[in-house]
Amino acid sequence: MKTLKNIGEKKINIALDGPAGSGKSTVARILAADYGILYLDTGAMYRAFALGLLRKNINPKDGEAAQSAAAGVPVRVKYVNGEQRTYLGDEDVSEEIRRNEVSRAASDVAVHRKVRERLVEMQREIAGRMSCVLDGRDVGSYVLPHADYKFYVTADSRVRAKRRYLELLARGQEADERKIYEQILSRDKQDKGREFAPLKKADDAIEIDTSDKSIEEVVREIERIVDEKL
Ligand code: DC
Repeated sequence: MKTLKNIGEKKINIALDGPAGSGKSTVARILAADYGILYLDTGAMYRAFALGLLRKNINPKDGEAAQSAAAGVPVRVKYVNGEQRTYLGDEDVSEEIRRNEVSRAASDVAVHRKVRERLVEMQREIAGRMSCVLDGRDVGSYVLPHADYKFYVTADSRVRAKRRYLELLARGQEADERKIYEQILSRDKQDKGREFAPLKKADDAIEIDTSDKSIEEVVREIERIVDEKL
């Protein structure tokens, strides 16, 4: 068993942004465990919000409908044994939000400014209270511009598609690799191209390309940088 890394009394926030399939969520989870701090998956919030809309038969692309339904879509996160669970009201939707159609819908709802503002407020509130590793698209550039550490984790789009494909297979879901590749390209385009808080590398973020790196290598690289500054 690994010894917990000591961050002392310090409260730290580590921002990990990047496109889908870059490996950031796996890395974020390991970092959080190693430092004994929380892992906040911000994408899960957009996913839960999107699922809430789909269930109400609201088109996630319809900005006005999405924004006026916002109050009736009670996204919450809870930590159970240190692990994030994502809720819609009292229902734990942590598994359901991983469905492929929810991925697309999450990217669609994430375009709407009011929806983002609401979820960003929750993210800032959690990060303000606790040490955590946050994974997302705009954490370093918008949610926490003063985060202690910022990383932009990326990888070649074909490598990312392959990872998503294997991930879905491992979950027992049907998957078509070529289709996933196309979906990844279109999601990247939408996440990067949106007007408000798009996916982008913050100027002061350290970029890490994971295409040819193992998870362990990426974790080691990030922990070396974090430890140096601690
Ligand atoms: O990381 P993910 O695949 O679970 O994210 C799903 C979608 O949510 C992603 O396509 C864009 C959106 N998202 C966002 O706009 N901002 C974030 N901080 C996290 C996710």
